[in-house]
Formats: sequence, C-alpha cells, structure tokens
Amino acid sequence: MIVLIGGEKGGTGKTTLATNLAAQRSATGHRVLLLDADPQGSASNWTQLREEAGIMPQVTCVQKFGPALVAEIQPLAHLYEDVIIDVGGRGDSLELSTSLAVADTAIIPLQASQFDLWTLARMDKLVATAREVNPSLRALVVIGRASSHPLVSEAAEALSALADYPQLQRIATVIRDRIAYRRSSHEGKSVTEIAPADKKAIKEVQDLYAAVFEK
Ligand SMILES: Nc1ncnc2c1ncn2[C@@H]1O[C@H](COP(=O)(O)OP(=O)(O)O)[C@@H](O)[C@H]1O
Ligand SMILES: [Mg+2]
Repeated sequence: MIVLIGGEKGGTGKTTLATNLAAQRSATGHRVLLLDADPQGSASNWTQLREEAGIMPQVTCVQKFGPALVAEIQPLAHLYEDVIIDVGGRGDSLELSTSLAVADTAIIPLQASQFDLWTLARMDKLVATAREVNPSLRALVVIGRASSHPLVSEAAEALSALADYPQLQRIATVIRDRIAYRRSSHEGKSVTEIAPADKKAIKEVQDLYAAVFEK
C-alpha cells in the first residue's frame, strides 16, 4: 500500500505521524519503506537516530524529491509491501502532486489552532485533480496537535468546516498535543516505544493506523 502524509503547512505533525505509522507497520511484520520526500530530511533523521539507538524493528528510509521521486515511487512500491511517503510542507510541490497520483491513501493532518480554509480548499482541488488519474485515492483529514484541554473545541470546529470539501473525508481520530509525541520522535521511536507509556497517545496512533491499514 502507498500512503502519503502531506498538506500545505509545516509543523502540523506530518513527519511525526509518518514515523509512528512506519514503526507500527514494521512492528506488525510488514516490509515498510519510509520515503522521505522533504528536503529538510526529518524522517531520515528520525531513522538514523533509531538505527544508532538500536531500536527494533529497524525502519528503512530513503530520501527522494523532485524528478527522482516521480521516477522512483512505483519501482520502490514493488520492492516493499508498504511505502509511507512523508511529503514536505509546500502545497504547490511536485512531491505532493506526484504522490497523490499514485497513493492508495493520503493523510492530511490539519492543525486545529491554525485552522485554515485556504488549505482545505487547495487540498480539495489537488485531490480532485489526482483522482482523474487515481480514482480510488482515499483522502483522510486528521486533526493534528489539537489542544488536550477538554474545554477547547477547536477540533470540533475544524471537523465541521470539512463538510464543505467533498473530496476530503474526515476521520474521527484527533491527534492531540502530547509530550509523548515530541519525546518519542527525538529518540527515534514511536509513541508505543517509550516509557512511561502515554496510553492516550498510543490509542490515537492505533486509531489512525486502523483507519489507514484496516479500512
Ligand atoms: N501531537 C503532537 N504533540 C506534541 N508535539 C508534536 C505533535 N506532533 C508533532 N509535534 C512536534 O512538533 C514539531 C513539528 O512536528 P513535525 O511532525 O515535524 O511536523 P511537520 O512534519 O508537519 O513539519 C516537532 O517538534 C514534533 O515533535
Ligand atoms: Mg516534516
């Protein structure tokens, strides 16, 4: 399966979700490639930290962007069971449109506190264009880095605004702002691999995993 994590903005948690999904998927015995399509290389850095710390299972990561990515997604997809593409931040990017054209599932994290209709309108259009060549593409919006304060309803507001964008399907899972995400990524781990365990973060990642891989 080809899964991309992409969107317009930086800092919404794309790399964090990509690395968590890659670790989870590898842990269940699948041959996974994490494809780092962001010149900033955060997914590659995470993999390197993971390797240096000897955390198992190892996750294979290669960095490709620009025309090299366009040429190599499909050949790479034949070598692995799953390819998880961490697309960089720019919405006009070749990496995003190329990945959308071949992916089974696109995950679009939106940060509720910076919630922005322009982003949704643009992603809706990009997904519509991609579906002309890739009609079975699933496009899932997940609210990311939402406040973990129960009184803040920004996540609910963001979800209701999504109703206006027919190409985008909302998923009920909300990824909240939790220290566990930050800590685990800085150690080359997923949230399921750190102690003490943050059960809420683990549940969020498991729910996202189920939405992507166990549809
Ligand atoms: N759910 C979360 N809770 C807390 N911190 C997060 C969360 N998601 C991401 N972060 C932190 O925010 C920063 C940006 O996240 P990152 O995944 O690199 O975003 P992106 O790839 O979209 O630019 C990183 O320092 C990361 O550890
Ligand atoms: Mg990133």
